Amino acid sequence: MSTLFEPVRLGRYDLPNRLVMAPMTRSRANADGAPGDLATEYYAQRASVGLIVTEGTQPSSDGQGYMTTPGIYTPGHVAAWRPITDAVHAKGGHIFIQLMHAGRMSHPDNTPHHRQGVAPSAIAPGAQMFTPTGPQDAPTPRALSTDEVAQTVADFAHAARSAIQAGADGVEIHGANAYLIQQFFAPSANQRTDRYGGSIENRARFAIEVATAIAEAIGADRTSIRLSPGTALWGIDEGPDGPELYRYLVGELDKLGLAYLHIMDQGNDALLADIRRLWKGTLIINRPGRARDAIGTDIASGLADLEAYGQMILANPDFIERLKIGAPFHEADRMTFFGGTEKGYTDYPVMAA
Ligand SMILES: Cc1cc2nc3c(=O)[nH]c(=O)nc-3n(C[C@H](O)[C@H](O)[C@H](O)COP(=O)(O)O)c2cc1C
Repeated sequence: MSTLFEPVRLGRYDLPNRLVMAPMTRSRANADGAPGDLATEYYAQRASVGLIVTEGTQPSSDGQGYMTTPGIYTPGHVAAWRPITDAVHAKGGHIFIQLMHAGRMSHPDNTPHHRQGVAPSAIAPGAQMFTPTGPQDAPTPRALSTDEVAQTVADFAHAARSAIQAGADGVEIHGANAYLIQQFFAPSANQRTDRYGGSIENRARFAIEVATAIAEAIGADRTSIRLSPGTALWGIDEGPDGPELYRYLVGELDKLGLAYLHIMDQGNDALLADIRRLWKGTLIINRPGRARDAIGTDIASGLADLEAYGQMILANPDFIERLKIGAPFHEADRMTFFGGTEKGYTDYPVMAA
């Protein structure tokens, strides 16, 4: 437990502890993609964690899938994120913006431009999405042309530069949870016949190109990526060679010298051990639903350098302080996860001084 509160080097930063706020979409941004007014308070309240990873943030208008998620690709977005990063820094914290392209997990009713979603191939996920008029089927997306894949890589790099302009310490590429990057990994979503489909090398290519372009744009030590090997969500099936794809991908990403790799564990212990071996840099592990008394076990065993927690930090702005003294945690209120007001967002109480 004690090592949790020991400083750690991450990329070009020294963090005061090894606990990370996992990225969490809260759907409270304005229609133009500027983070909502309460976002500054929300993130500043949680700045005592070693690192905040923000909610998924679209790197382009095509990247938006859900209602009222923030963006980081216009001057207005840059200006709107600035008070958030300033407030986190004023409290001694560090913040990486998560760049999330939803790909086919998108609905025209959810975006200001109302365009069809884009994806590796024109295959619907076979899933429902929340929209302004209630749940609807996610429609069949449009397949990106080879040139558009290159443009999407450039969009990620532009968004990363914008994040740095907005004062973020770095970016985390969202390569997990059945969104665009993982859609490229999975034959069930990727039937391309160009250099982005077919073999393991081809399916991993888009992720590697995005990471390379961002590392060139803002520095590898401010660039990171999140993966969830084996996620079987919303029509994603990585096939029998899925684990092999991740071994190849992690080995290639390791060569880039990124700030960290963030694994959202899906229960494949053998693969996780291989990833630890293949990844020479800093490794963050998030184990969904982990119990409080297991906090710190992956750091103690040497598997992880840092551990990420979502709901516990959502519901406990003073998570670090509570953990240190063994104070009870609030339970997260699922009804207020997505959209709404300060309720379930900035009104979770902190302990008396
Ligand atoms: C409300 C909510 C929103 C989430 N949004 C994102 C997201 O934008 N990007 C992402 O990578 N994961 C997202 N996740 C997954 C979390 O980062 C985390 O992996 C998950 O909550 C499991 O960890 P936990 O049990 O510690 O909460 C979200 C989870 C929750 C509860």
